[in-house]
Amino acid sequence: MTTMTDPADTPHDDTLRPHVFDGIQEYDKRLPRWWLLTLYGSIVFAVGYWAYYHAYSIGTPPAQALEKEMAENAAIAAKKSGVIDDKTLWKMSHDTKVLSAAKVTFETTCAVCHKPDMTGLIGPNLVDQEWIHGGNPMDSFKTINEGVLVKGMPAWGPMLGRQKVAELVAYIFAHHHPGEEVKIVPGWTPPPGVMPVAPPSPPPAK
Ligand code: HEC
Repeated sequence: MTTMTDPADTPHDDTLRPHVFDGIQEYDKRLPRWWLLTLYGSIVFAVGYWAYYHAYSIGTPPAQALEKEMAENAAIAAKKSGVIDDKTLWKMSHDTKVLSAAKVTFETTCAVCHKPDMTGLIGPNLVDQEWIHGGNPMDSFKTINEGVLVKGMPAWGPMLGRQKVAELVAYIFAHHHPGEEVKIVPGWTPPPGVMPVAPPSPPPAK
């Protein structure tokens, strides 16, 4: 079998590999510099990307950034349309801007009775799966908006307005997820030593 080594086709720096298959030989072709640079460049980039987004969490991974932006857009759209329903409230519960605004309102207005971590004090726990007035965002919207005056829960709608009430619902439901199993309970028992309603003040001393 003849080997086809036409010197005209053979660049100086390419050696011929020793094997022959069906009369075919191959050069030990050197990889072009641009190709190698692209390969090494992408390895360096991948390490950097992995460190930046995953190992050290310096940046928000693009998928999460997109999700956040979508939630924000949904919240803006909901705000513009003025519609408040379970769906928009669930969407708002993923919106970091809404949540940080609501945190301030909750801590200044609601935490005295529900505790800053919402686990309940005078008012019920808002982060467990037990609800007095229903476990959907709109149920809470109604309770917060109209209050349960006889039980000591004030009506916040007239004081805060619909937008702020909606934000508070989003803040509460950021601790829940759609379709979770809920239990309807008749009422809340405050922890021992905590009065359900403010005790009557003693009669003034004569
Ligand atoms: C003065 C105390 C008090 C304050 C302040 C208060 N709540 Fe309440 N809240 C209660 C009580 C008491 C109940 C239970 C009502 C009942 O038994 O029907 C309640 C019930 C609720 C419920 C219904 C829970 C369920 O299980 O259905 C939600 C939601 C709620 N409060 C949210 C809020 C938010 C948001 C704020 C702040 C804007 C707030 N509350 C401020 C006392 C308070």
